[in-house]
Amino acid sequence: MYLTKEEENILKGEEGWAKAKALEVVVRVGEALGAERLIEIKHAHVSGVSYENIGEAGLKFIEDLALSGAKFSVPTSVNPISFDLDYEGLPGLFKYRREDVDKQIRILRALYSMGAKPTLTCAPYYENHFLELDLKPGDSVAWGESSAVVYANSVLGLKTNREGGPIALLASVAGRTYYYGMHLDEERRPRTAYEIDWIVRDETEAGVLGALLAERHQSEGPPLLSGRIEGEGPLREFLASVGVEGDLAMVYLPGVSRDKEPEAIEKREEISREEVNSMLEELSPTGPVDVIYIGCPHLSLTEFEKLVHKIEKTETKVLLTVSPEVYASAKMRGLTEKLERKEVLVAKGTCLVVSSFWRLGLSVATNSYKAYFYLKRKGVRVYLARTQDLLKMVS
Ligand code: F3S
Repeated sequence: MYLTKEEENILKGEEGWAKAKALEVVVRVGEALGAERLIEIKHAHVSGVSYENIGEAGLKFIEDLALSGAKFSVPTSVNPISFDLDYEGLPGLFKYRREDVDKQIRILRALYSMGAKPTLTCAPYYENHFLELDLKPGDSVAWGESSAVVYANSVLGLKTNREGGPIALLASVAGRTYYYGMHLDEERRPRTAYEIDWIVRDETEAGVLGALLAERHQSEGPPLLSGRIEGEGPLREFLASVGVEGDLAMVYLPGVSRDKEPEAIEKREEISREEVNSMLEELSPTGPVDVIYIGCPHLSLTEFEKLVHKIEKTETKVLLTVSPEVYASAKMRGLTEKLERKEVLVAKGTCLVVSSFWRLGLSVATNSYKAYFYLKRKGVRVYLARTQDLLKMVS
């Protein structure tokens, strides 16, 4: 691999042992993939930080890295962890042994000692620290968390591969990643278009559409979606479920994506509304459930505010998940208090999927295809339903 003088010096240890080791791994992985050079990154987002998911091996890796003196070279945000730091046991939904809580906190301490921002969210693009960076389309970043990666490439015009948690960490320390995959314009050129003949305005419909598109897309390059998805929530749910199965890192969305319009499309296929609706119907709840879950990926402040006005007081547990930053803003506006009065639970910096929720044996209905997919995989009895139908279930 071609290395600049500066990169050679880093490898020689001129900027410290830890940075040299981090760069060495990035170079090795890049060489294995056939990358010709490295590319500097402007931001990193680290996933795989929930102790529930990464266990002892993950804790050791992150702690060892911090103990070796590693520091992040670029602003770095962090994905959700296994519980809300204010309630280790959110009433009836997350329950932890003291030792697991301590281990999660050790992971956070290690990340923060290297310079990570305490974001604890899978939607880093809503965070102030990220918005203040004023990144430009075409800038390269190293993000883990598939939903955020697909959003970054498809909507923000940032360039990132779907990095595993450890590689995003090491790339952040090295300040670089391999110039490969989604960092190359050629790899971002769609060749197949999927046409839809209706305007998608519903989050759950958008999620199912994303799952069908990802399942069907086998050809090279990212798929292009020819049709409209309206609204922040539906767009985010669509992109999150595109990232669930397979290895897609981008969907080209005409009028939204910041990459150059493709000159030619080689193949066109259709996805019908009937297909989407019949899949959604198949996954719908057949009776009452224990928990209603909204907030995968984490909600924006605007979406949170809309829900506050729509949700009624209920016997069924309703859980919303957001980032700590969105929670703090919502609290300042009195929104969390309104939800407390309705006995709606709000957890920040975590979610049902990365927590120990699956162990409780409770059933769930959610509007998020991604949450549906992963909770199902963990053995939870889970159903998918449109937000409006979930809200009817609680009223
Ligand atoms: Fe985020 Fe958890 Fe969903 S990390 S994308 S809320 S599975």
